[in-house]
Amino acid sequence: MKILFSGISKLYGTSRQVRFGSQMDEVKSILNASILVENGRVLAVTSEDISDQADQVINLNGAEVMPGFVDSHTHTVFAVPREEEFVMRLKGASYEEIAAAGGGILNSAQKLRRTSEDELFDAASVRVRNMIAQGTTALEIKSGYGLSVDAEIKMLRVIKKLKESFPITIRATFLGAHAFPKEYKEKTDDYVDLVVKDMLPIIAAEELADHIDVFCERGFFSSDQANRVIEVGAKYGLPSKIHGNQLAVSGGVQVAVRNQSWSVDHLEHCTEVEWNLLKNSFDEDGNGTMPVVLPGVSYYLDLPYAPAREMIDYGLPVVLATDFNPGSSPVHSLQTVQSLACTQMKMTPEEAFNAVTINAARSLRLEDEVGSITVGSRADFLVMNQQNALQRIPYYLGQNLVKEVYIGGVKFDL
Ligand code: NIG
Ligand code: FE
Repeated sequence: MKILFSGISKLYGTSRQVRFGSQMDEVKSILNASILVENGRVLAVTSEDISDQADQVINLNGAEVMPGFVDSHTHTVFAVPREEEFVMRLKGASYEEIAAAGGGILNSAQKLRRTSEDELFDAASVRVRNMIAQGTTALEIKSGYGLSVDAEIKMLRVIKKLKESFPITIRATFLGAHAFPKEYKEKTDDYVDLVVKDMLPIIAAEELADHIDVFCERGFFSSDQANRVIEVGAKYGLPSKIHGNQLAVSGGVQVAVRNQSWSVDHLEHCTEVEWNLLKNSFDEDGNGTMPVVLPGVSYYLDLPYAPAREMIDYGLPVVLATDFNPGSSPVHSLQTVQSLACTQMKMTPEEAFNAVTINAARSLRLEDEVGSITVGSRADFLVMNQQNALQRIPYYLGQNLVKEVYIGGVKFDL
């Protein structure tokens, strides 16, 4: 069954090429376009009339269309939000002070341990639906609020169930090394042992994770500890993504580059030394460590914004993600993130678009699947409710410009 989506005034994102540096300001698009879809995949993209090839034609009546957004860094599974910490911060407490006093990630871990798998799944499902309504059709979700063997596995099982329940693309990341539980405060290496010797073998055997991650940061995991987690993860076949340089220059970029991690995320504190390491991590085929920036964190924690403008000018392929989580970034909309990227980091709308589509897909090594509307890619696309939508997304902060979401060529019931 071939379905033709016709009457598209402008189709954005018609190239699968990862965008580095100055290329980020270019978005490939086709005017007066049609998309031919079969078995959930794009069969053709054209501005010619090919309706004779289709079994069914769906006329989109002059709307603009773009590929679904790819959110490559989220913590979507958690028990409850932490608005009380948000208010504490408004009154002057810092994120690090709250964490040191047992709040933050440990607060979420305590609550998650007492919450059943079903309850976690129901709460996360509502959030995933909200993300789809904002245009996200591929999503990475991390564990990391369990911090015990049982609770980490519980979280990853919830992510597995989300994968099975939603038609969008979901990838799971094991982040057992997210924080040290209270009882390990004085013996942090013992907790690293628990992660690599007790958690990882079960997670690998049950195929519960697609990647591994570690919070390499002042007050959290040292570079040596992060290295160990990533190296053992690699032995189990898990590629890595790293939380680094959020609160200070933490060595996270060095750990990522040394281990050929797929991405290093946060980078609020990042100098030319790190940009250079990242740039040199790329080989001639474009394989390297992608820098993922998370402006929601800077917005909520009043941190400096990652130097995304400078990194793009330096030639790097920047990615944007929400980091959706109950502590540092309770923002689930990649539309909002595009707006923050433009106003706060001086990215152009085109750069922001590439950073949430093809570059984001690349940071998950999914660029053949998602992040563009090209022959062979999944037919995951957004029908917009306005013209010039690419620029109006960052312009209209807080407005949802997504009218309809198609996943594998099938309209998602929003
Ligand atoms: O990416 N930085 C570490 N982890 C999360 C925050 C988690 C939390 O505060 O619950 C982040 O910002
Ligand atoms: Fe995060």
